[in-house]
Amino acid sequence: MITRVAKNEDMLTGGVTLRHYFEVGESALECIQDGLRAAGAALPRKILDLPSGYGRVLRYLRATWPDAEITAMELAPDAAQFCADAFGAKPVVSRQPFWLVTDAGDGYDLLWCGSLLTHFDQDDWPPALKYFRDRLALGGVLVFTTHGNLSIGLLARDAAAVTTIGDWVGDYGMGSKAKEMSRVARESGFAFGHYGDDEGPFGLSVSSPEWVRETVDRVHGLEFVLHQPRGWFQHQDVWTFVRTE
Ligand SMILES: C[S@@+](CC[C@H](N)C(=O)[O-])C[C@H]1O[C@@H](n2cnc3c(N)ncnc32)[C@H](O)[C@@H]1O
Repeated sequence: MITRVAKNEDMLTGGVTLRHYFEVGESALECIQDGLRAAGAALPRKILDLPSGYGRVLRYLRATWPDAEITAMELAPDAAQFCADAFGAKPVVSRQPFWLVTDAGDGYDLLWCGSLLTHFDQDDWPPALKYFRDRLALGGVLVFTTHGNLSIGLLARDAAAVTTIGDWVGDYGMGSKAKEMSRVARESGFAFGHYGDDEGPFGLSVSSPEWVRETVDRVHGLEFVLHQPRGWFQHQDVWTFVRTE
């Protein structure tokens, strides 16, 4: 596994150690492999990592499937380029919203989306999920992550949730909004909050497993395979679906 880390890697801020950084990457790979196994899928030959960031997970995909064609799609152009230079990925510079990007290709056997829906408000989920579906070959496997019940508990500062994961996540920077978000999520299955005064599309979302299932079901053509609550490094829920139409 290539251990080169980009100087702009933003998943290494806030006191995160290199050990934690690599363990999070490795944990994602394990979840993806669980999903592929549960789907009964063959080894992936064409993989889309969206958003790749600076390759925290992509480096493990490359090490595991050295001959696969891997696309790194990212809003930050230097991150996509780093994944190309360091891990031999095809870079695709994304835009906002990403479902307007036309040059990501399709026919993928595997699409990994780590920690993106976790930042989207509910109206952005259906177009995002449709875009994922349409990038996959029939029978292709979609693995994405969400902030599930643990995260809802963290926003509420529930002792059980904090004990489960430790306090490195805190309240996700939601501050005074955190408790109300957890209340809304417990009532409706979903909540979204912006970071500080930022009114852009990117914030923090939490979603119950029931809400995720219903939302994906409404986007036809994705069949449920596996839900791993807190599967990604004891934190984010990991979901696997297969494209059926
Ligand atoms: C929390 S990071 C996760 C990165 C990577 N999946 C990982 O686990 O290291 C979220 C990433 O989403 C990217 N992003 C935000 N909006 C995007 C968009 N419209 N298209 C592609 N990437 C986007 C950000 O630039 C950031 O790198």
